[in-house]
Amino acid sequence: MKFFIETYGCQMNVHDSERMAGLMEQAGYECAPDAADADVVVINTCSVRERAEDKLYTRLGEIRQMGLERGRAPIVAVGGCVAQQEAGALLKRSNTIDVIFGTQSIKQLPALVGQALADADNAPTRIDVNAYEDVSFPLGIARRLDPLKAYVTIIEGCNEFCSFCVVPYTRGHERMRPKRDIVNEVIEAAAGGHKEVQLLGQIVNHYQAPDDPSCDFAALLEAVHEVPGVERIRFASPHPRHVPIGLIHAVRDLPKVCKHFHLPAQSGSTRVLDAMRRRYTRESYVELVAQLRDMVPDITLTTDIIVGFPGETEADFEETLSLTETVRYENMFSFKYSPRPNTLALQRYPDDVSEADKTRRIVALQARQKEIQLELHLAAVGSQVEVLVDSVSRRRTGEVSGRTMGNTVVSFSGPPEWLGRTMTVQVRLAGPYSLTGDATTAVWVPPHEETRLDTSGREA
Ligand code: 5AD
Ligand code: SF4
Repeated sequence: MKFFIETYGCQMNVHDSERMAGLMEQAGYECAPDAADADVVVINTCSVRERAEDKLYTRLGEIRQMGLERGRAPIVAVGGCVAQQEAGALLKRSNTIDVIFGTQSIKQLPALVGQALADADNAPTRIDVNAYEDVSFPLGIARRLDPLKAYVTIIEGCNEFCSFCVVPYTRGHERMRPKRDIVNEVIEAAAGGHKEVQLLGQIVNHYQAPDDPSCDFAALLEAVHEVPGVERIRFASPHPRHVPIGLIHAVRDLPKVCKHFHLPAQSGSTRVLDAMRRRYTRESYVELVAQLRDMVPDITLTTDIIVGFPGETEADFEETLSLTETVRYENMFSFKYSPRPNTLALQRYPDDVSEADKTRRIVALQARQKEIQLELHLAAVGSQVEVLVDSVSRRRTGEVSGRTMGNTVVSFSGPPEWLGRTMTVQVRLAGPYSLTGDATTAVWVPPHEETRLDTSGREA
């Protein structure tokens, strides 16, 4: 029996899918190369914005059609945030689904699929969305997709209840994983060749080890830093409200920790931030940015912004634009506000910014952000950066790319053997989304530039 998992949404979902894949393999299922080959299609859904949710319905229609064409419908299991939150509505809207399981019941997936397969005709749908799984997860099960980067969950859920956000309803209340489990998982990932570890949680800086009262997030970074084989440590995402000085020191002082904060601002207007229940002001956010830059001068900052939150005026939006001018982010993810079920904003504030205004604002924001990125990248031309090579170009032979500590993509000539190595690269060209350079720690010359060459990838 073959399964195929489709994943929508955030890194948490990607990692949940890695866990599901491992559990399915452990139960004897084999991974199919695509949905058309699969007996079981698992869809891991996202409900953070309405458009993400709409994709599920489109996909269910396609899978149904695919089943009709090949004369055999696959078992369809829907998991993730939409399933957790709207199991009833899903079942009413679609009769393609055989299994529904929530974000909290991943471990039960193989058993639920087994039951659905055992019911020969019209397997009744299983619903198991209310049970809360504990945060433990057996070591060695997750089938990590990326050979270099390993996601490691440190916190599940969120108690913050920002007024726009569905996450506290789809992923439940905040639960910390024991430090012992986290470190063991990092050891396991490093032993499997993963050089970069990304610690995941809705608010990573809330971390407090349930098994060690002295271990906060900074101390956890120190513990992960000790693990041999780990070369880089990233984390996503910190909340701007809870960044103690000890955490800034840890980021500054631990060489493996990437000097990068993804610090979601959401808005530059204190009035809107208040309605969003973010519980910080523009001023305190800007102060934090100044402190980070002061203490970690080479730090890279990235952010998330929502435009068109209910009641956002042109003046509020101007404040968001001016925040981006002030901070000069290296990268930004921007979204049009969309009302989400159960949230405070849905109940309290009408979605009163027109679609046209949301579009105009996001276009203006992204255009300005693109210029800022280009300016930052141009300023990097001529400098040397450390790049962990994570991909080989499919379009251009002899080209590889990777990311700096600040998460900027850098492409340069090099052989596939460099995958997984950290190279020093001299930046030669800058674009808004990436840099191009030349590796300075190697003698390899790409085939199209030199005929008399050694393509073995040996270093000097
Ligand atoms: N509408 C638009 N964007 C949202 N986000 C979360 N909820 C919503 C919503 N209802 C954005 C936030 C968050 C990112 C993951 O998604 O910017 O940081
Ligand atoms: Fe959502 Fe706010 Fe929690 Fe982030 S901190 S997951 S935006 S509720």
